[in-house]
Amino acid sequence: MDKFIIQGGRRLRGEVAVSGAKNATLPIMAACLLADGDCRLLGAPDVTDVRHLSVLLEELGVEVRREEEGLCLRVINRENSHARYDLVRKMRASVCVLGPLLAARGCARVAMPGGCAIGPRPIDIHLRGLEALGAEIDLKSGDIIVKAKRLKGAEIFLGGPFGSTVTGTANIMMAATLAEGRTVIECAACEPEIVDLANFLNAMGARITGAGAPRMTIEGVDNLQGITHRVIPDRIEAGTFMIAAAITNGEVKISGARLDHMMAVVDKLRQIGVIIEADDGGAIVSSRRGITPSDVTTQPYPGFPTDLQAQLMALLCLAGGNSIVTEKIYPDRFMHISEMARMGANIRKEGPTALVLGAGRLVGAPVMAGDLRASAALVLAGLAAEGTTTISRVYHIDRGYERIEEKLAALGADIKRISEKE
Ligand code: EPU
Repeated sequence: MDKFIIQGGRRLRGEVAVSGAKNATLPIMAACLLADGDCRLLGAPDVTDVRHLSVLLEELGVEVRREEEGLCLRVINRENSHARYDLVRKMRASVCVLGPLLAARGCARVAMPGGCAIGPRPIDIHLRGLEALGAEIDLKSGDIIVKAKRLKGAEIFLGGPFGSTVTGTANIMMAATLAEGRTVIECAACEPEIVDLANFLNAMGARITGAGAPRMTIEGVDNLQGITHRVIPDRIEAGTFMIAAAITNGEVKISGARLDHMMAVVDKLRQIGVIIEADDGGAIVSSRRGITPSDVTTQPYPGFPTDLQAQLMALLCLAGGNSIVTEKIYPDRFMHISEMARMGANIRKEGPTALVLGAGRLVGAPVMAGDLRASAALVLAGLAAEGTTTISRVYHIDRGYERIEEKLAALGADIKRISEKE
């Protein structure tokens, strides 16, 4: 297992390019199950989650090739529709094959994903949606079995206790593309990744309107064709680099950042003293004065994303005062607090809220990555800390960031990857 060693205190300067969005790429890869012919996904990032889904799709009869500009996928065999637990447990987003498998093959068997480091993550809303489209649902040996000769359009409400569901919306939207008649999804997720999936499906021949708004309509069609599509830039990676620039008092051009996908993030960072200027297909981010404390609550898009909560918390540790961070999507997503405490952070958690007592400084320490975004937060903390930070188990960060240490080193960070035998 690899670890990162970071010597903190270097100001980041220069330009970094944002990769394609992991969370757009995963459901779009699954949507290739619906297509006849080659699908080319330009900009699909080479991260472990994408590799895991490639292995699963290969088992499901999809040929997946890494090409210079991204991925090429093509269905070559429709016999196996069983997503095994061994593969699904490595990445719970694998559940995004459920809707397209069912629509394309009339049946699917997908291992029920368990919880994960950020808390319980049920899929009840996905199943309710598929049932509304006419699927029969059964649970056998931990696998969900769904069947339907042909799905039928329906009116479906996808709201849950924490708002809509992103992957649930993707699953129902993909299933409904080949259903008979019209499907209306109410309380659909509005994330840019959902809009990207809808654009991909429409280019393949689907008829989806309203993506990006809570009410979406899908008119079923008979078949879909392979196409070439460029995946949107990763707004979470872009946000992570914005915070990296701010936390090191640096000045970084983030090329490819879509500020229109990041308004809540840009607004919050500006509020606390980070300077963000739009610049020719990206942004220039700098910080010349201290960070001011603030309150932030994570929400479904267009609110502040849960996937940047840990990284923002690292920055707020350096503020001259107290901040309040409330997690409204995953109330238990605070694994980073105890690791940051090892670096001198003073954070008190009370239910889904954390009180960050800004101490103005962090100190290097050996820490352990616990999940993808928590690991990114530890890297950011390490960049700002006095002395050496060693982060073990960085396979978590490789799940969603493409060569993060190389990108940071190119900006002047002192960060090294060491292969660690355990
Ligand atoms: N929920 C339910 N029932 C369901 C589905 C979800 O109660 O059937 C709850 C969840 O437990 C959670 C909330 O609804 O409290 C939102 O979950 P959602 O389904 O929207 O999350 P997801 O689709 O599983 C995606 C991203 C996550 C990101 C969340 C929220 C992908 C592959 N994953 O997960 O990304 O945190 O949306 O924005 O798109 C990450 O990249 O680090 C990551 C965890």
